[in-house]
Amino acid sequence: MIKFLNNSVAKKYSGKTCLLRIDLNIESGAPLDSYRLEAVLPTIKLLLKHNIKVVILSHRGRPLEISKIKNLGGIVNYTTRSFASILSKKLKTKVQFIPEFDFPKIKNQIDRSKSGSVFLLENLRFLAGEEKNDPGLAMQFSLLGDFYVNDAFAVSHRKNASVCAITKYLPSYAGLCLEKELKNLGSILKYTTRPFVIILGGAKLKEKILKLKKLVRKADSVLLGSNAFNESGIPKEPKFVWPDDARKNGRFIWDIGPFTVNSYADLINEAGTIIWNGPPGLFEKKGFEKGTIGIWKAVLSNRKAKIIIGGGETTASLSLIHNSKFIIPRNLFISTGGGAMLEYVNGKKLPAIEALK
Ligand code: 3PG
Repeated sequence: MIKFLNNSVAKKYSGKTCLLRIDLNIESGAPLDSYRLEAVLPTIKLLLKHNIKVVILSHRGRPLEISKIKNLGGIVNYTTRSFASILSKKLKTKVQFIPEFDFPKIKNQIDRSKSGSVFLLENLRFLAGEEKNDPGLAMQFSLLGDFYVNDAFAVSHRKNASVCAITKYLPSYAGLCLEKELKNLGSILKYTTRPFVIILGGAKLKEKILKLKKLVRKADSVLLGSNAFNESGIPKEPKFVWPDDARKNGRFIWDIGPFTVNSYADLINEAGTIIWNGPPGLFEKKGFEKGTIGIWKAVLSNRKAKIIIGGGETTASLSLIHNSKFIIPRNLFISTGGGAMLEYVNGKKLPAIEALK
């Protein structure tokens, strides 16, 4: 059974220290990417309301992999440092960044701090043991706090020390954001209302189709983005709807064209269930955002269907139609997960969620 963080759990730990795992695998400078960050604020606020000290843990990027490929000595680009000031502003309380993994020193700093202090550790993937799910490292983390909260759904498909092994050493809970993800995504494989439409775009289309195998089997149509033209090896099944027209940049196809937007919009309007992962075009490039805007408009105008949207690029593209008056409709759930969302909706057990049980 998963234990969920709530008011009475937080009350029990009043004055204690929480190790809170979130997912800051985002561009700190890009306003587009704030969705993941905003999603975990309610959990931090709940902990602070009960005077709990919060030690935030996160990874960012794949620094060890990249530094091997590029033979880089430094891994500076992946620091989590800039998030300390971003979080400080959002929480209206100082978030202290801890740049080094000197565990006894960190422990001392936490012990000396007053209740309700917030700390942010450096990128956990700078530590070799993180991605190896190393129990020794997990134990070192655990010595910093009294209980652990996972609010990092987006990385819960990875067997990493800060989401899996750590649960062996501390009382562990699912945070408020993770709870929402499980509630909204958990039932989709069983309960789909027809017509069931899947929209897939962005990079690695073929991989996404494979990850969603069971759902693709159930779907009535799978609407493919412009990358379907660029990527080889995508199966040609009757339910796969390919773009009719394309917006090109030289030889490359960067967006779906107006006919495709209209025909996709017709299918989206009639759908009873929609899952969308990956924008249909390279919306970040000026002149190639129209397809993505068209799909957003169609999706938002269907107020009857159960709609699940996920993937970092897709949530980032929300900014195209976002304004201060934008309220997410009740029938729509935007997941913070990319790969994790694809695996979970397709019925796969995620290691970090299993570890919480
Ligand atoms: C994500 O952005 O999907 C998660 O943070 C996981 O990142 P990873 O694919 O590098 O493990």
